Amino acid sequence: MKVKNPQFVISAVSPKQYPGGDLLDVAFAGRSNVGKSSLINALVGRKKLAYSSATQGKTRQINYYSLDDELYFVDLPGYGYAAVSKEEKNQWGKVMEQYLNTRKQLYLIIMLLDVRRVPSEEDSIMYRWILSSGIDYIITATKTDKLSRAQVNENVKKIRSTLQIPPEKDIICVSSEKRTGIDELWAAIDSYITDDKE
Ligand code: GTP
Ligand code: MG
Repeated sequence: MKVKNPQFVISAVSPKQYPGGDLLDVAFAGRSNVGKSSLINALVGRKKLAYSSATQGKTRQINYYSLDDELYFVDLPGYGYAAVSKEEKNQWGKVMEQYLNTRKQLYLIIMLLDVRRVPSEEDSIMYRWILSSGIDYIITATKTDKLSRAQVNENVKKIRSTLQIPPEKDIICVSSEKRTGIDELWAAIDSYITDDKE
């Protein structure tokens, strides 16, 4: 879809704060600093709609953005940030668990993996949760501008084997910085959205 008027809606921590109505959620999940907020900005063509920062672990709430009143982009809190207290981690777990387990409009999950890193245990947990939920999902490898094409290919293979992602499932390589892979990712998102409307 071509987004004309993306709007910040709300930072939610509990289900009663999620927006009402029946727009669908496309949620962005991945470890802290993987590039979720930057990818949302790249997809909607705004530099600063979603808050992105060099300081990790900033996004603790579930941030909702509406796309021309057609669907929501949902920026989920990043996991795996080491320098937070156990209490904060528990809080994060609660926020995420409630969202994943209760949000009926959750329609599509974009899972982000940093192309430079071997997927962590938490990435595996997230991936397995997605599989068991039966919700449609797209996998992206982020920050591909940081590596050569050959290294990207090699690392994508490693990501695939670590998480046991089946060969028929695409891994879309993106760089929010260079805007590569953004059109391809939009085409993938659109294919799920359009399916639903038919
Ligand atoms: P949390 O909100 O902490 O969970 O992080 P996030 O996943 O939203 O990451 P964010 O978009 O804030 O990006 C983290 C850092 O990575 C920032 O310094 C971004 O500028 C940088 N970054 C994000 N995407 C890219 C990319 O495609 N290429 C490069 N080189 N840097 C990127
Ligand atoms: Mg963020």
